[in-house]
Amino acid sequence: MKLRDLGTIMNQLPLILLLFPVVLSSTNHKEPFLLENHPSGFYLPDEPAEPEFADSETNITAQLEGSIFLHCPVVNSGDRAISWIRLRDWHILTNGVQTYTSDDRFSILHKEGSFDWILQIKYVQERDAGVYECQVSTNSGTISRKVFLNVVSPVAFILGGDEYHIDRGSQISLVCVIEKAPTAPQFVFWFHNDRMVNYDQERGITVYTSHSPEKTQSRFNIQHASPSDSGNYTCKPSNAIPASIQVFVSKSRVDKMEALHKQSSLLINTPVDTSQGTRTVFPSGLHLLPILWGCFLVRPQLL
Ligand SMILES: *[C@@H]1O[C@H](CO)[C@@H](O)[C@H](O)[C@H]1NC(C)=O
Ligand SMILES: *[C@@H]1O[C@H](CO)[C@@H](O)[C@H](O)[C@H]1NC(C)=O
Repeated sequence: MKLRDLGTIMNQLPLILLLFPVVLSSTNHKEPFLLENHPSGFYLPDEPAEPEFADSETNITAQLEGSIFLHCPVVNSGDRAISWIRLRDWHILTNGVQTYTSDDRFSILHKEGSFDWILQIKYVQERDAGVYECQVSTNSGTISRKVFLNVVSPVAFILGGDEYHIDRGSQISLVCVIEKAPTAPQFVFWFHNDRMVNYDQERGITVYTSHSPEKTQSRFNIQHASPSDSGNYTCKPSNAIPASIQVFVSKSRVDKMEALHKQSSLLINTPVDTSQGTRTVFPSGLHLLPILWGCFLVRPQLL
């Protein structure tokens, strides 16, 4: 049905061949084309120079959610259409300036008079990784060039490990870091279990995300934690593999707070007491020293 849109028979023939790769894959699929179109080669002298590929990058690394350009520079293409095919499923993505996919992340960029046919993929996904082939028909068949697309995803991590224990009423403070991302994430979403909570201000939640050339940091806070804030928290950047942490908010605030007060008063008072104590003891200890020394000095003489 896609073929109806295509122009000349010359354009259709190689495409028909491409649409049935399974049928043809076991044989050289250039043969039927040759037999039908060049039975004797009697018009070959009139043909212009053959199309050829110029140099271009054939191993491309894209970042998850990024945009990528696959180049296919063809010299002497004349008015022949250049096609881009995804080899994973033998899908013809483009032919000439036409696009044959409902996935609008794919588009063909070609300037009138330019010899480069650029397949653009936007919002690259993991599933886009694989081999793409650019094809053009020649007088004697089809020539093609493979371009490898790798997709990399930076990994996010939450500082402090897998678990976070906190007392009721205290502040939950989580920091998510995304490193080695060629471009900063467009957004960082925080999930409490399955719910996106970036904008749950009534729960006292604030999210602050900052970028530097090396890394992105997203800081998540809940002002006064309650036990219902316990659960699985996930930091989900737009372009990185998410990270999760389990948060446990204890139910017993009062006891803990009292315990904390006792503990802190102990911590604050004891050092002061001991230092005062040692200070008062120290001089008297000094007084004792001569006596002690005396004992040591006297003893050898006695022996
Ligand atoms: C493409 O480049 C990546 C690293 O940038 C490398 O790991 C991979 O092996 C290369 N693939 C090919 C087919 O050359
Ligand atoms: C936390 O949530 C994330 C995202 O939904 C999930 O991948 C992960 O397995 C969960 N962790 C636990 C311990 O439930």
